[in-house]
Amino acid sequence: MQIVICSDAAQTRRLAAQVLAQQVKSKPTSVLGLATGRTMEAIYAQLAETAQQQALDFSRVITFNLDEYIGLTADHPQSYRYYMQTHLFQRINIPAANTHVPDGAAADVEAEAQSYEGRISQAGGIDLQLLGLGENGHIGFNEPLSALNSRTHVVTLAQATLKQNAEMFNNDMEQVPARALTMGTGTILDSQEALLVVTGAAKADIVARVIEGPVSALVPGSALQLHPHCLVLLDEAAASRL
Ligand code: GLP
Repeated sequence: MQIVICSDAAQTRRLAAQVLAQQVKSKPTSVLGLATGRTMEAIYAQLAETAQQQALDFSRVITFNLDEYIGLTADHPQSYRYYMQTHLFQRINIPAANTHVPDGAAADVEAEAQSYEGRISQAGGIDLQLLGLGENGHIGFNEPLSALNSRTHVVTLAQATLKQNAEMFNNDMEQVPARALTMGTGTILDSQEALLVVTGAAKADIVARVIEGPVSALVPGSALQLHPHCLVLLDEAAASRL
């Protein structure tokens, strides 16, 4: 793992957007793995701005998002498809057909998981996988105790995740879907490069366990220690327990 500690969250996000922009510049046919969550919002805003200023061309870029809630349709404001449309896709010149988010409204979610994994392979695998970190150490929606070699699958979300994400559902845990589709930890580890971005003191403990603790299914993010090319961008607050 290569660790970069930035002075504040804004600088961390700016650097993350630069890494993504550079990837698209150097390989216009990049396959990007994308993430959602509050941390990513400003990164996408910055990337969209850079794309406009520098006429960055996304027309041949292909994207695969990490995860999606089961039971939410694409037009649900809390679905990750809706999030991606709003925060990134409608602000860059990426063709709709090039963007992939697991279909949480699929009639057969197990089949959707398999087909999603197949589509990633067909695209030649992921060049650069962007990742956030859950407060319980999850990456994508791979919750503690999920297998480190898993592929795209259906998960039941941990209580801690329902609590963490309730903010987006009127602070009501009951409204957060209980299940999700997620790329597996194995799928994530297969990416050519991984970019983990974490900010804020609330995640300082889990960041230390991810980076310095043993590789363990108890802390799914710790699997990134096994990734041959993983860049970790932190602000000082998130790095304060290292
Ligand atoms: C969700 C996503 C994760 C993301 C996490 C962090 O749970 N499934 O992929 O890493 O949120 O979210 P935030 O940036 O809002 O703390």
